[in-house]
Amino acid sequence: MTRLLAPDADGLDEAARLLRDGGLVAFPSETVYGLGGDARNDRAVARIYEAKGRPSFNPLIVHLPDAEAVARFAVLPAGWERLGHLWPGPMTLVLPVRPGSGLSPLVTAGLDSVAVRVPAHPVTRALLRAFGGPLAGPSANPSGRISPTRADHVLDGLSGRIEAVVDGGPCAVGVESTILGLVGAPRLLRPGGVPVEELEAILGPLPTGGDAAQPSAPGQLVSHYAPRGRVRLNTRAAGDEVGIGFGAGPEGLNLSPSADLVEAAANLFHMLRAADDHAGAGGTIAVAPIPETGLGRAINDRLRRAAAPR
Ligand code: TXA
Ligand code: MG
Repeated sequence: MTRLLAPDADGLDEAARLLRDGGLVAFPSETVYGLGGDARNDRAVARIYEAKGRPSFNPLIVHLPDAEAVARFAVLPAGWERLGHLWPGPMTLVLPVRPGSGLSPLVTAGLDSVAVRVPAHPVTRALLRAFGGPLAGPSANPSGRISPTRADHVLDGLSGRIEAVVDGGPCAVGVESTILGLVGAPRLLRPGGVPVEELEAILGPLPTGGDAAQPSAPGQLVSHYAPRGRVRLNTRAAGDEVGIGFGAGPEGLNLSPSADLVEAAANLFHMLRAADDHAGAGGTIAVAPIPETGLGRAINDRLRRAAAPR
């Protein structure tokens, strides 16, 4: 039985108790819901992989309350302060693991780097305070499926497989954090909630990391975020296809009628899920063109994965 916990003091105390006991608790963040477990507890981390059905070579993000806590588990490179104003927020840094950090090696999937993030959502921050440790948290969806942006999305995919979900309502950003690799020269490992342009204004042009065959961030696997049906991009729905619109258009599902990319990102996974439910395994989802700027890059990245043949 998976319990639904309120985001108040009682609910968060209970969530923290479950986490300390090695339990799994899904939690809201400003990006998407995370599947939380104690990052120092091998069994808890193993259960995260099991609950998600995630291939074990996919390392997990560790959530921490501030940069000081990050420095206990990872090595922040000289000059990282130029990015400091982006924390708390939807930015994840991949850093060298601090030796003796106490993190379960399962969290990093055996790598000597670790992905760390300082979330901004008040409920995530209150949970981190109540728990008092490093919180491993991949997106709270079965591996390869659409990321959850509401507590009921989490229950759709993981009910019965985890102890609890803290219900913090819909996620404001709606796409995952931007992942910046800072082991050696800075590299963009995944576009996300912080626009790449904002990072490039600070760091200069960023090479992108990995390819489909050798993904450095498994979110880069080509067929990720997959609905059951077929997905066509940059097009309008024809016949009995299910359309997802953007800007002016007749579609019932519209990411943002006013063509606002922030609104579109917040709606993306919710609407892909709704379209998937309508279309079913044999159906087709047709998605309108999304501009390739700002959050549009993260949206198109997710959509290309959703549309990749598999
Ligand atoms: O917004 C987010 O980032 C959400 C919320 C819950 O924080 N989390 C999330 O986690 O999206 P997940 O596990 O679904 O995606 C984490 C990505 C994966 O693609 C993983 O491979 C990559 O981060 N990653 C983690 N550790 C890494 C490492 N050491 N080197 C390279 N990539 C890493
Ligand atoms: Mg994920």
